[in-house]
Amino acid sequence: MTDLTETVLYRTAGSIAWITFNRPEALNALNTEVNLALMECLNRAEVDPEVRVVILKGAGEKAFVAGADIKEMMTMGSMEAREFALRAKQVTDKIWNLKKPVIAAIHGFCLGGGFEYALACDLRIASENAKMGLPEISLGIMPGGAGTQRLARLIGLTKAKELCLTGGIIDAAQALSLGILNSVCPQEELFPEAAALANKIASKSPHSVSLIKSAINKGTEIDLESAAHFEIDCFALCFSTEEQKKGMEAFASRRK
Ligand code: CAA
Repeated sequence: MTDLTETVLYRTAGSIAWITFNRPEALNALNTEVNLALMECLNRAEVDPEVRVVILKGAGEKAFVAGADIKEMMTMGSMEAREFALRAKQVTDKIWNLKKPVIAAIHGFCLGGGFEYALACDLRIASENAKMGLPEISLGIMPGGAGTQRLARLIGLTKAKELCLTGGIIDAAQALSLGILNSVCPQEELFPEAAALANKIASKSPHSVSLIKSAINKGTEIDLESAAHFEIDCFALCFSTEEQKKGMEAFASRRK
């Protein structure tokens, strides 16, 4: 598999697609090239039937992603900034709506746009040295990749406002206690842990996995009554799959 660019790497191993932000010299900051390549990688993962789960990670020792590329942004006018943020939105929408789960495996800095991409993922695990937050306010701007929205929905208005308004950076233990992270582990265990989690999900029915992701994500965007009906439709769809027949027959005949 050839990479579109060196700045984002795409590798598959078994059921997992590993997408690596690869600008370690800039702490994997997100520029236009990275965003375009990332979209391409997510599209590849989505259409590859072998891939069941996607993992996002950063290259180098220091960062998952230290935010959008400040050097690219600094000369932008409003219209260019809008385009830049719209591109980031395309990425977060793609992660959010991808038919397969996306896990962020976070080490070191996970800031600004990088944190926003992680927030769009389905699951987040981090190493003990991870540091995350939305420091945009310290640059005289604000989050533009739906960070204010996803963070507030994930952890509630009180703590989301505190983080956005102060630009505060929190460590992995704090992020875990706020419900941002699923788990925290030593750095050397991060990628094996992410792979183990991905493989656990990959062992389940891909249709159920996809429908559960969709039901939960859609449910956060609509009222409870509509969401419950959407879940019923997803539930019913499961009954058109081989996995449902095999799964229930196996239970009834006490097989695995
Ligand atoms: N954009 C561009 N380059 C960046 C970068 C970023 N977001 N973050 C780090 N880099 C570059 C640095 O400029 C430096 O490059 P040079 O060696 O060429 O100068 C290199 O990466 C290493 O960084 P530092 O020397 O600064 O490393 P450090 O360990 O001393 O500090 C840090 C690490 C605290 C994360 C610091 O780099 C930092 O504060 N980075 C910016 C974080 C930030 O504000 N992110 C939000 C960006 S705005 C945004 O993301 C908006 C949006 O979503 C739409």
